[in-house]
Amino acid sequence: MDRFLIHGPATLRGRVRASGAKNAALPALAACLLAGEPVALTRVPRVRDIGTMRKLLDHLGVASEERGDALVFHPGTPAEENGEAPYELVKTMRASVLSLGPLTARWGRARVSLPGGCAIGVRPIDQHLAGLEALGADIHVAGGYVEARAPRSGSGAGAARRLRGGRFRFAMPTVTGTENLLMAAVLADGTTVLENCAREPEVGDLARLLSAMGARIEGAGTETITVHGVPELGGARHEVIPDRIEGGTYLVGAALTGGDVTLEDAEPADLAPLLEKLAEVGATVEVSGRSIRVAGTGELRSADVATAPHPGFPTDLQAQYLALMTRATGVATVSETVFENRFQHVPELARLGAVIEVAGPVARVHGPTELAGAHVMATDLRASACLVLAGLAAHGETTIHRIYHLDRGYERMEGKLHDLGATVERVRGPMPD
Ligand code: EPZ
Repeated sequence: MDRFLIHGPATLRGRVRASGAKNAALPALAACLLAGEPVALTRVPRVRDIGTMRKLLDHLGVASEERGDALVFHPGTPAEENGEAPYELVKTMRASVLSLGPLTARWGRARVSLPGGCAIGVRPIDQHLAGLEALGADIHVAGGYVEARAPRSGSGAGAARRLRGGRFRFAMPTVTGTENLLMAAVLADGTTVLENCAREPEVGDLARLLSAMGARIEGAGTETITVHGVPELGGARHEVIPDRIEGGTYLVGAALTGGDVTLEDAEPADLAPLLEKLAEVGATVEVSGRSIRVAGTGELRSADVATAPHPGFPTDLQAQYLALMTRATGVATVSETVFENRFQHVPELARLGAVIEVAGPVARVHGPTELAGAHVMATDLRASACLVLAGLAAHGETTIHRIYHLDRGYERMEGKLHDLGATVERVRGPMPD
C-alpha cells in the first residue's frame, strides 16, 4: 500500500488547473448506459473510481476507449445474464448504484448489488428505490442485491418493459438519488416531476449531458425537476465540469500554508460557499473570470461552519476546513449535518498535535496550534486530503498511510503539489518491517 511522505512546513504558491469533477464524471459515465450512439466525454479525471466505473460499464456491454483528450463510450446491449452490477465491483465503489436507474429505464430491468456500509455513514439508498417505484418499477431486494423491473408497457408476455412518468418527493436532497431518478425518467413513458431534489452542480452537469443526448429536462439545479420522457436517446460530446472539491482543497491549502494559489479554469460560482468562508477567516480571495486566487496573508481567524446540501457548505470540504481551523486563532465549531460519521480524521489530526473535541456531529477546533510531523492513517477520500494539507503545515516529516483512498478522487495530487512548491513523495508498497 502506497504512502505519502510530506516535508513541512511548506508554502503553496503558483497556479493549478482543476481536474474534471469525479462526482460529475461518474453519473456521466452511467448515463452512457442510456445512449443509442457513442458518447465522447472530455475532462474526465483519471482517478481510480473512474477506472472502476469503466469496468462496470464494460461488464454491462458499454465499451470505452481513449480518443485524443476524450473517453468515447460505445453503446452496447447487456447480455441477458449480465444486466447486473456485481458485488465485486459495487463493493469497491458505492457510486455503482448509479447504474440502477439507467439500466431499468433502458432495458426494463436491472440487478445491482446493494452498496454496503461506508466509513462516513450508513448511506442507505431507500430514496433511490422509492423513486423508482414511483415510476412504476417493481423493486425486489434479496441476497444483497436489488432487482428492479419496469412495468410491461403493453399486454402480452412479450410486451416491452418501460417506466412510467410519475411524481416523487425526496425525503432529503440526495445527490446520487436525484441523478438516478433523472436517468430513469428520461426514457419513461410520460412526464415525471421530482421534488426536493439535490441542487449540486454535478446534477446540473448530468442534465446538460442528457439534454445533449436528446432528453427533455427542466429545472435541473433547482429543487423541482420536470422530465418529459422520450422513446430513445442518441449520443453526445460533453465536457465534464471542473472539480470544485479538488479545486477547493488546493485553495484551502493556500490559506493554511500562508501561500498564494490561483485555481485556473474553475467555476467560481460552484465554490461560493467556500470562498465566502475563506474571506471570513481572513484569507485574500480574488475571482476573475474562471480563475480564483486565494492568499493566506496573515493571521487566520476561527469561524464556525455547518455543512449542508448545495448551496450550503459542502460536506466534502469539511475535513479540509477543519485542518485549516487548527491554524486559526480562536475556537471554531464545525457541524457535520450530512453524514453521521465524518470526523475520522480528527484522531489523526490529534497525532499531528491538533486540539479538537468531538461531541456527536460537532467538532470544536482550538487554534492556532503548531503541528508536528507524524505517521497518520487515511480513512476515506476527503479525510486523506485533510491529512495532506495538515502535513504541509506541520514541522518535519509526515507519513500518510493508505493513500489509496486519495487516489480514488484526486488526479496527480503529488504532481500538482510539487508544481505549487511542496515536497510530497509517494512511496510504493508496504512499510518495511
Ligand atoms: C454524493 O454522495 C457524493 N458522491 C458524495 O461525495 C457527497 O459527500 C454527497 O453526495 C453529499 O454531497 C457522489 O456524487 C458519487 P447523498 P451520495 O445521497 O449521493 C442520506 C466524495 O467524497 N440518504 O446526497 O451518496 C445519506 O445517508 C463523496 O466524493 C438516505 O438516507 O450522498 C446522507 O446522510 C463522499 N437515503 C444524505 O442523505 C437515500 O436513499 C445525503 O446523501 C439517499 C441518501
